[in-house]
Amino acid sequence: MLAELDKLLGSCVFEIDCCKDLKKLEGIRVAVFGKNGKLTQKMKCLKNLSPSDRKVIGAKINEVKSAIIEKLSIKSNNLEMIELEKRLDNEVIDVSMPVDTKFFGYIHPISKVFSEISAILNGYGFRFAEGPDIESEHFNFDTMNMPEYHPARTMHDTFYLNMPADENGRKLLRTHTSPVETRYMLKHEPPLRFFTIGRTFRSDYDATHTPMFDQVEMLVVEKDVGMAQLKWLIKDILKKFFNLEKLLVRFRPSFFPFTEPSAEVDINYSIVNGKMVFGTGDKWLEIGGCGVSHPNVLKAGGIDPMQYQGIAFGLGIERLASLKYGVPDLRSYFESNEKWRETFGFSPMEF
Ligand code: DAH
Repeated sequence: MLAELDKLLGSCVFEIDCCKDLKKLEGIRVAVFGKNGKLTQKMKCLKNLSPSDRKVIGAKINEVKSAIIEKLSIKSNNLEMIELEKRLDNEVIDVSMPVDTKFFGYIHPISKVFSEISAILNGYGFRFAEGPDIESEHFNFDTMNMPEYHPARTMHDTFYLNMPADENGRKLLRTHTSPVETRYMLKHEPPLRFFTIGRTFRSDYDATHTPMFDQVEMLVVEKDVGMAQLKWLIKDILKKFFNLEKLLVRFRPSFFPFTEPSAEVDINYSIVNGKMVFGTGDKWLEIGGCGVSHPNVLKAGGIDPMQYQGIAFGLGIERLASLKYGVPDLRSYFESNEKWRETFGFSPMEF
């Protein structure tokens, strides 16, 4: 038996020495230590031996076992190193090679404006938060001071979803980002400053309306804020966005159920050679709405309107992008036209 064990050790050491890959090494391990492995079999025989033989043979088996395990582990480390070196040799990246921009694609103007606006609003200390695209009637309308049968609901050309209603009413594609205001207020204590950017949906389609569009929504809730701060803030944000010291912004008195007073925000532009040029001319493009939060909106967000006031705006991202980057037709943003992307898209290298 002792001689057999010595022979087993010798043949294992030889096989391990000759082995050239990890898979085969694993095969050797299983052939020795597996359920029916050569050494396992020997261990099984121990119980049939006399106690004195068992002591001697048992010690020998352990000795052979440790020797093989050590051999296997050294070999496996060696083979791993060799495989790693082989892989590294094949994975050479020459960082001095010129960049092939053809494979990069383009940054869509909407994404570009998204990051520009985020950077500006972060600068004032606004926190970013998101809400769901699929909203309920409760959040989209009720909490925005538009109870059932409120005439303003019909102005929103809503896409209702063919899904069962729940305690928050029917499901719909959100018609504006304003419901995120409520969601944020319910989770955070005032004073607060927050903004969201995201998709909104309305059944509307022409050169200045698309069924899907993006809005940026901003809300400030503090003890002493009002229309004056709101007008200053919007103008300051737009000046930063357009990189202009002077910018004509028009606040037109308007009506939104969720704000009182309310205003629509227009920007001055003209069309030169088929391109939109802002800051001159006699045309005005409405880019969104703003106002002082209605007490019912603050209440729906769990905030006491006797103690706090809110100022808010919602601006259309495509319209801002059109003004800044001269895109005349809003529909073209979503047509995935390659030529258009080349003209109006941005290189990822300059992001
Ligand atoms: N939610 C409005 C819309 O989509 C825009 C808006 C107007 C947002 C006034 C506001 C606001 O936060 O105060 O038409």
